[in-house]
Amino acid sequence: MPERLAEMLLDLWTPLIMLWITLPPCIYMAPMNQSQVLMSGSPLELNRLNEEQRILNRSKRGWVWNQMFVLEEFSGPEPILVGRLHTDLDPGSKKIKYILSGDGAGTIFQINDITGDIHAIKRLDREEKAEYTLTAQAVDWETNKPLEPPSEFIIKVQDINDNAPEFLNGPYHATVPEMSILGTSVTNVTATDADDPVYGNSAKLVYSILEGQPYFSIEPETAIIKTALPNMDREAKEEYLVVIQAKDMGGHSGGLSGTTTLTVTLSDVNDNPPKFAQSLYHFSVPEDVVLGTAIGRVKANDQDIGENAQSSYDIIDGDGTALFEITSDAQAQDGIIRLRKPLDFETKKSYTLKVEAANIHIDPRFSSRGPFKDTATVKIVVEDADEPPVFSSPTYLLEVHENAALNSVIGQVTARDPDITASPIRFSIDRHTDLERQFNINADDGKITLATPLDRELSVWHNITIIATEIRNHSQISRVPVAIKVLDVNDNAPEFASEYEAFLCENGKPGQVIQTVSAMDKDDPKNGHYFLYSLLPEMANNPNFTIKKNEDNSLSILAKHNGFSRQKQEVYLLPIVISDSGNPPLSSTSTLTIRVCGCSSDGVVQSCNVEAYVLPIGLSMGALIAILACIILLLVIVVLFVTLRRHKNEPLIIKDDEDVRENIIRYDDEGGGEEDTEAFDIATLQNPDGINGFLPHYRRGLLGGISQDAA
Ligand SMILES: *[C@@H]1O[C@H](CO)[C@@H](O)[C@H](O)[C@H]1NC(C)=O
Ligand SMILES: *[C@@H]1O[C@H](CO)[C@@H](O)[C@H](O)[C@H]1NC(C)=O
Repeated sequence: MPERLAEMLLDLWTPLIMLWITLPPCIYMAPMNQSQVLMSGSPLELNRLNEEQRILNRSKRGWVWNQMFVLEEFSGPEPILVGRLHTDLDPGSKKIKYILSGDGAGTIFQINDITGDIHAIKRLDREEKAEYTLTAQAVDWETNKPLEPPSEFIIKVQDINDNAPEFLNGPYHATVPEMSILGTSVTNVTATDADDPVYGNSAKLVYSILEGQPYFSIEPETAIIKTALPNMDREAKEEYLVVIQAKDMGGHSGGLSGTTTLTVTLSDVNDNPPKFAQSLYHFSVPEDVVLGTAIGRVKANDQDIGENAQSSYDIIDGDGTALFEITSDAQAQDGIIRLRKPLDFETKKSYTLKVEAANIHIDPRFSSRGPFKDTATVKIVVEDADEPPVFSSPTYLLEVHENAALNSVIGQVTARDPDITASPIRFSIDRHTDLERQFNINADDGKITLATPLDRELSVWHNITIIATEIRNHSQISRVPVAIKVLDVNDNAPEFASEYEAFLCENGKPGQVIQTVSAMDKDDPKNGHYFLYSLLPEMANNPNFTIKKNEDNSLSILAKHNGFSRQKQEVYLLPIVISDSGNPPLSSTSTLTIRVCGCSSDGVVQSCNVEAYVLPIGLSMGALIAILACIILLLVIVVLFVTLRRHKNEPLIIKDDEDVRENIIRYDDEGGGEEDTEAFDIATLQNPDGINGFLPHYRRGLLGGISQDAA
């Protein structure tokens, strides 16, 4: 108590001293209510202060002003005396009048113009207006002439503790992790006090907790709130209400106080492992369920929340690890068991899985509490379903020789009903895949037979679909692709790969290659083609040409001598026998037409008889026969004619024949005579590639045709 009094005195002391120092030389103002205290001050102290003030007040003035003080919130029966104006001027006979003007003069502050006493006539509030600036003046009572220049002074409203602390931002919310150590800072709060923070303790606040112990504590000065218990568990209690008090006057009794509330929420940490709700789960699933279908869900509960409750699910053991998988549903925080591979009731009727749920976000602080995972057993029972027939193979490949006999068995498909009921099966061919009804199938045993003849050279593959139907349930159907490959039989003879035209230069050398020919065969033997070439046996010792087989299965025709000339013979026909390597081999004879041509010295063909081979090539067999018939008819007529003529002039016909030949030769050699231009087209004759002659060439062309025909 004596300590407080001294403190109060000291607080008042400073402004009073300042007032005191204004005494000499002119007006002094004294707060009357404290004048006694003032008077009791030590003279020595006063002298020292006077000295200081003199230094500050450089200018010599009639008025010396200072501050007056008045307590706020004063309410007594009488107006409170604030202070007194006084001048030490010697007025002589004159009477002095004091005048007050400025903030609140006359309304709040009233002056006694004779004595200079200033009274506050209204209750004052420092928190509303802390000081008033007024002007004081001393004038002659009669003349109202100023005796001194006016002087300003201030009346300060002195604070009393009339405001309680207030928490302006309350109520407060804060979060602190559960399981925090003792003394973990939660938040801090602040109260404000409207009272004068520099004067007295009216705004000096001390904080304390009224509610919320023993969980939280507050630092009295800083208002920092901390946990007061270690390891608070969110799963036990999540929210705490803390009531905080702020008290002014440094917390002493008599001070004013304000309170606020703070709601503290414990945030989650991963301090709880997952735990399966059941240790054993039972699921059942039909064997024909589609892959990927969810079979069941297992859930491990976790007291934590958010990501701390998240677990990943795994199948860690069991006899169905290959058939089933488990996926984690982050939303529902459970595990979904799905089918990965087809089930078969007839093979295995139940499976056991060991599933594990493990927390994803582990907090190492709590890992010593044991593994953050749990396991459970899942039993899956497979249910029987009515299944369609199953073929013994997913596809079939059958091979059949193209000469296979009708109704012969090509192959067989088999199928069975996998169900316990084991219905018999009937087979049929999907006719959309066998439009030509090439095959038949025995409905009971699945044997496929040939219905119409095959030709590999027409179609190698016959890909059909066989349908199996359960007799007891016609809706149970399966289909299987059957690829039937037609195998080759040597049923085609080789022949020239194309129509070859061979030219032989008159000036060619013996041994020159006239032509190279290739053969082709529609068949497709396994080891490829190997052709044998030969000349007809009766022409084996052909004096003019020889043949030589090349490495690449082709054949070269060579000239044996150099004595070829168009005059001697223009066209040679060389029949060549080509034989394949089949078993048995097939052969045919193709005839090569070789024409003798005039060539340049470097072997470039210049002039040939084209017609000879154009005719037989261009004409069909029917046309040839027609022509042959015509010729025979012509010959018969000629023979008749000659026979008739022979009686009269025997050598005529021979001479005519020779004449024709001579005519032609003559034109070739001499370029034709004038009288003959009507009989022959000279332009044609002059053209080296043009058509020369008729009859002999016709005959040779026909011979070629006949020879081919014979082949
Ligand atoms: C038939 O099936 C075989 C074997 O699958 C295949 O190689 C062939 O290309 C198929 N043919 C046709 C015409 O579809
Ligand atoms: C060989 O050529 C001569 C004429 O050059 C001909 O008379 C003979 O008939 C030809 N022999 C064969 C077999 O073609």
